[in-house]
Amino acid sequence: MTPVFLNGRIVPREEARISPLDRGYLFADAIYEVIPVYRSKLFLWSEHYRRLERSLGAIGLTNPYPEHKWRGHLGTLIQQAGGGDLSVYLQVSRGAEESRDHHVPEGITPTVFAMTLPPLPPDPILEQTGARVVLLEDIRWHRCDIKSTALLANVLLRHEAGGKGASEALLVRDGWVTEGTSSNVIALRGSILTTPPDGPEILPGVTRELVLRLGASEGFTIRRERIRADQLIKADEIWLTSSRRILAPVSSVDDHPIGTGRPGPGYGRLRLAWLRHLDAFTTGAP
Ligand code: PDD
Repeated sequence: MTPVFLNGRIVPREEARISPLDRGYLFADAIYEVIPVYRSKLFLWSEHYRRLERSLGAIGLTNPYPEHKWRGHLGTLIQQAGGGDLSVYLQVSRGAEESRDHHVPEGITPTVFAMTLPPLPPDPILEQTGARVVLLEDIRWHRCDIKSTALLANVLLRHEAGGKGASEALLVRDGWVTEGTSSNVIALRGSILTTPPDGPEILPGVTRELVLRLGASEGFTIRRERIRADQLIKADEIWLTSSRRILAPVSSVDDHPIGTGRPGPGYGRLRLAWLRHLDAFTTGAP
């Protein structure tokens, strides 16, 4: 059986029942997190938990569990799913109520759901040749800092990118690059790593913070500044960060090669720094 967590209990996925009147289903009135798990341990838990609390607060939901309960529930789920390397997906919706009314009801019980996802298989092609990306207009709402399940724009933009032979779209709002459909962006020029500053236009990525921290300890200068879309192709290297893929090099933007058009030496250094960090995490205290 594939175990999932639903409202305080672990149940087989086939037996998990959520009402069709759930506001997560009807309105995407819900928030989520994706947390990597290595050797059965939640990676960067505190950072993901802080963002979970922030997203809940931003949509006016009370956190259903104290932190130790979350850890306990997710730990049990990971164990029952067989442990190892995987990801945890969790979502909290406002819950179900009869009226399907836009008005936010008082006193309904949130629906809390979590499942494990298999790790994305390593992609040697991505690591050796880099990702093709395209620039697309950022048609999303103005609260992209909330990790909301309302991802229709992201899904459609990713689909459009796929149709153009790209594996990710970098999104552009008023001439400025914001982020990918499911990733943050970092550009390297010389020894300077630039990434758009936090704000309502982007998700404050947990992986990006780690990569920037590792980058700083590798001697790179970190700048949190907006990046003009028409300047992006001048970067020596561009990287995408996300909890599912961690760090991915970009080979071209709209068919313009970035740097040599292959993953660059900066990526190589950060990848090694990441592997060392991961090794320390997996061999450290449980
Ligand atoms: N998405 N920006 C967007 C729009 C994202 O959806 C994601 C991650 C990120 C990277 O954030 P983090 O490093 O904290 O995962 C940035 C997850 C993985 C998803 O929706 O599957």
